[in-house]
Amino acid sequence: MDTTIDLSLSQRPDLSDRRVVIVGGTGSVGEGVVRAWLDAGAEVIIPSRTQGRVDQFTGVLGEAATDKLNFVVGDYTTFASAEERAEQIEAEFGTVTDVVASIGGWWTGKSLWEITQAEWDRYFVGLTTAHVAQVRAWIPRLPEHGSYQLILGGSATQPVPGSSIINMEQAALLMMRQVLSAEVGEQRRVVSAVLGPVQTRLRHWVEPEWVSADEVGLLSTGVAASPAASAVDYTLSTKTQMIAHLRGLGVYPQEGGEAK
Ligand SMILES: NC(=O)c1ccc[n+]([C@@H]2O[C@H](COP(=O)([O-])OP(=O)(O)OC[C@H]3O[C@@H](n4cnc5c(N)ncnc54)[C@H](OP(=O)(O)O)[C@@H]3O)[C@@H](O)[C@H]2O)c1
Repeated sequence: MDTTIDLSLSQRPDLSDRRVVIVGGTGSVGEGVVRAWLDAGAEVIIPSRTQGRVDQFTGVLGEAATDKLNFVVGDYTTFASAEERAEQIEAEFGTVTDVVASIGGWWTGKSLWEITQAEWDRYFVGLTTAHVAQVRAWIPRLPEHGSYQLILGGSATQPVPGSSIINMEQAALLMMRQVLSAEVGEQRRVVSAVLGPVQTRLRHWVEPEWVSADEVGLLSTGVAASPAASAVDYTLSTKTQMIAHLRGLGVYPQEGGEAK
């Protein structure tokens, strides 16, 4: 089976009536998600903790940084600051239809019994708190047709020696997606993308089977455009899995054919 993905063949959904907040959009996976939503015609808002990160990211995006791309600078990682950012974004831009949370931070280097309190607080407490803060701020604000999407990693289910804190943080967030879906029922669409290693701007070498940040972005827009995409975790460790999910969402041609 051919496992190359030619994004020029993709059938991008029209999301010109959507307004998405991409939290962690300045990150290496977030970049692909931002590009895809802009390509689909959506208005994109990225909260970022620092102006420096915004300036750097705008340089990375180049011409893709259209006038549909907006930034809001300020902290969003606590319950209070996430609520403040949500109020600010709604007041400035209007109703948000979708949220993608791609809040990152990899950590490695020690066995679990060697970690410090500071490392635990930063990578487990800090990152899970930032995610829960987005859920608190945005789930009550989203319309039913919108989506809440989490970008996670395979470390949620596969132990990685030396990265225990991230393993536990990602596993907690995977369960958060599941319990959140159970709590919102049919009222909201909550999904996650559980990624293996990703081809991003920060990688010096990549394996051909790894999915790319732009493919993750296409999947995200496909989820937004597919009302049936709800209460699901998309496993995306390989191109083969990515192709199958992109086809299922109707944003990539079927084998020997066109997108549905
Ligand atoms: N990169 C990969 O190969 C890969 C593979 C599998 C899964 N993932 C998953 O994809 C998601 C995003 O990862 P990424 O590689 O794109 O991360 P990243 O490059 O570090 O970017 C993540 C963004 O999150 C924001 N952020 C908020 N609090 C943070 C904190 N305490 N530490 C670091 N960043 C923080 C930052 O935005 P501001 O500074 O603008 O606020 C940052 O740009 C994560 O859930 C990760 O597990 C990534």
